[in-house]
Amino acid sequence: MRIYRAKDYDEMSRKAANIIAAQMTLKPDSVLGLATGSTPIGTYRELIAKYSQGDIDFSRIKTANLDEYRGLPRENDQSYYYFMYENLFRHVNIDMANTNIPNGMEPDSDAECARYEKVIESLGGVDLQLLGLGHNGHIGFNEPADHFARMTNCVNLQASTIEANKRFFESADQVPKQAYTMGIGTIMRAKSVLLIVSGADKAETLAKVIAGPVTPQVPASILQFHPNAVVVADEAALSGL
Ligand code: GLP
Repeated sequence: MRIYRAKDYDEMSRKAANIIAAQMTLKPDSVLGLATGSTPIGTYRELIAKYSQGDIDFSRIKTANLDEYRGLPRENDQSYYYFMYENLFRHVNIDMANTNIPNGMEPDSDAECARYEKVIESLGGVDLQLLGLGHNGHIGFNEPADHFARMTNCVNLQASTIEANKRFFESADQVPKQAYTMGIGTIMRAKSVLLIVSGADKAETLAKVIAGPVTPQVPASILQFHPNAVVVADEAALSGL
């Protein structure tokens, strides 16, 4: 793992956007694995700025998002589809036909997981996977568990994740109880990964991710075994090391 320290959230966002922009420049038809949550919003803002300045081009870029809530339609403002559209896609020249997100409305969860895994495979795999970090060490929606999930799967969200994500909903009751997520195996098959982390509230978890034992109880710790993993974190998030 290569670790880059940023002063604060904005610098983390700029560094992350520079890494993604470099990937897009070197390979204009890259497959980008994208993430949601509050952490990548600044990174997407920086990418939009680079696009507006003519520095990057999304016309041949393909994307595959990490996860999606089960049971939320695309037009729900808390769906990850909506998030991606609002925070990135509608501001850049991406072809929406080249964007992929698990379909939260597919009732057959096994079929949806198999379909999504095939989509990623048919794209030739993910070139650069952007990741945020959950407070309990989750990546995508891979919650602490007794094993690492190999493939895209449908998970029951932990109470702490529902609690953390309820700020976006009217109440905790409205947070979906399940989600589709790329598996840890799916994430590990990405050619490179970029984990972005901000804030003192994640410091203890990030220390375990970077320097603790590799364990499915801290799902992101598996990234220690990824051959091309980069962490960009701000000083507050790195304060536990
Ligand atoms: C959600 C997402 C994750 C994200 C995590 C952290 O649960 N499924 O992909 O990394 O939250 O979110 P935040 O960046 O808002 O702290």
